[in-house]
Amino acid sequence: MIMKQEIINVLKQDKNLEENLKFLSEYTEGQIVFSTSFSKEDQLITDAIFTQDFNNIEIFTLDTGRFFQETYSVWSKTLLKYRKNIKTFYPNTLQIEEFVNNNGINPFYESIELRKQCCHIRKVEPLQRALKNAKIWITGLRAEHSANRNNLDIVQWDDHYQLYKYNPLLHWTTDEVDQYIKNKNIPYNLLHDKGFISIGCAPCTRAVAEGEDFRAGRWWWEDASKKECGLHS
Ligand code: ADX
Ligand code: SF4
Repeated sequence: MIMKQEIINVLKQDKNLEENLKFLSEYTEGQIVFSTSFSKEDQLITDAIFTQDFNNIEIFTLDTGRFFQETYSVWSKTLLKYRKNIKTFYPNTLQIEEFVNNNGINPFYESIELRKQCCHIRKVEPLQRALKNAKIWITGLRAEHSANRNNLDIVQWDDHYQLYKYNPLLHWTTDEVDQYIKNKNIPYNLLHDKGFISIGCAPCTRAVAEGEDFRAGRWWWEDASKKECGLHS
């Protein structure tokens, strides 16, 4: 049986993605989950998990109800291609009804507080349920995406969720991600071809211009230092 410390030591060496996932999939001390938002990064990891039948790694998504149509399309294409399940978590019905009835359908442009409340109901609370029994949480986070993410580690203890977070693509470049997607003919969100880099909910994401920061298109009306939704804070 593979022990926790052994896992951490091996993953930290940041070897080949498939090799590391294979090693990880032999871990039996608790549930391993991978969260996907169907970005290129996430599609790459999904392909590695599904094509190699690492069936004990559960893939889940948090459907905020506000994704782009292109995101739903790549989600659907992915299910058809791999014929495997992606577990889906939705916002709590009563909470989202109360929020919309009190604040309207697009209140996130009005204040950071309302934006964070919306993110909490549509993403963070469902994430708490998704991670309930998890011991290892795999993400598609990349350091290039923001200054905050530059300080992350490939494997790190998450005190809040009491689990290890594994960010296998942390030091991959955009070109490396693109090349991998191309070589393996992996379905990806077509918005990436229209200037979108980091893709979240439709009302809160726009394309970025050449030379702009990678996350400039997320919550673009807010101060750059506040651009996190609470999933990874
Ligand atoms: S966010 O915090 O700004 O929304 P970002 O879009 O950069 O996150 O994605 C980083 C990682 O967070 C993804 O690779 C994925 O693991 C996870 N993630 C983000 N949004 C979702 C979502 N809606 N469902 C599941 N995982 C998500
Ligand atoms: Fe709501 Fe926008 Fe956050 Fe999505 S990104 S949960 S629409 S505030």
